Amino acid sequence: MASISDIDKNKLPNHVAIIMDGNGRWAQQHNKERIFGHQNGVSSVREVTEAAAEIGINYLTLYAFSTENWNRPKAEVDALMGLLVSTIHSEVETLNKNKIRLWAIGNLKSLPANCYNELMDAIQQTSKNTRLTLVLALSYSAKWEIIDAVKKISEKAKKNEISTKEIDEKMFASSLCTNGIPDPELLIRTSGEQRISNFLLWQIAYSELYFTEKLWPDFHKEDFFEAICDFQNRERRFGKTSEQIKVNNKQ
Ligand code: FPP
Repeated sequence: MASISDIDKNKLPNHVAIIMDGNGRWAQQHNKERIFGHQNGVSSVREVTEAAAEIGINYLTLYAFSTENWNRPKAEVDALMGLLVSTIHSEVETLNKNKIRLWAIGNLKSLPANCYNELMDAIQQTSKNTRLTLVLALSYSAKWEIIDAVKKISEKAKKNEISTKEIDEKMFASSLCTNGIPDPELLIRTSGEQRISNFLLWQIAYSELYFTEKLWPDFHKEDFFEAICDFQNRERRFGKTSEQIKVNNKQ
């Protein structure tokens, strides 16, 4: 199991994104209702956020609620929204103490009013922090985000504010809700599932993918450090050859 001393501080990913999966199965293993898994998942959120800040990661994005999650039983959706409200409310002080800025991406207007207001309050109260930006993906799906960007760009084109020629990767990326946030270099998914589930499809074009069997409530600091070490042992070629990368690294 990895520890903080195994990490090379000069080779850190700037942005790590996580698909927190397996809360339901964890609860089932403990003969409890699904919400018990989500409640225990909050401890992992705390631990991993602390670990990311400790080693000097700048951005941590957590997939907390997808567009598709609205289709879960109403009781689970309500319980998750309640958990989000209470967690955000109770964590603001700790976020400020640790200089962590809260941010959120997704169709935020679709959240219940109390959740939206709590979130906006916390974002505002932590806005001056500069150590780590913790991004919560809420009511988020990548396909929704991409369609939303296409709508924004076509509206501008219709009003002749931009020409088709001006549409390039940079402009498209700036129309996504991650505008201003660098792409994640590392994407972690817990629970043994090996899929992306409509998360950051544009932004992970060149991310390293890391899958672990651990269920989210069992994912602790050491597991996070292990994922970082694994990332640090990979060769990122971005379409180039291994030889080109080695020459560049020497220069
Ligand atoms: C996936 O497990 C997890 C979620 C859909 C919710 C994640 C939410 C939390 C960890 C709690 C609140 C978070 C914050 C940021 C305060 P699953 O239910 O799909 O698990 P399963 O695949 O085993 O059923």
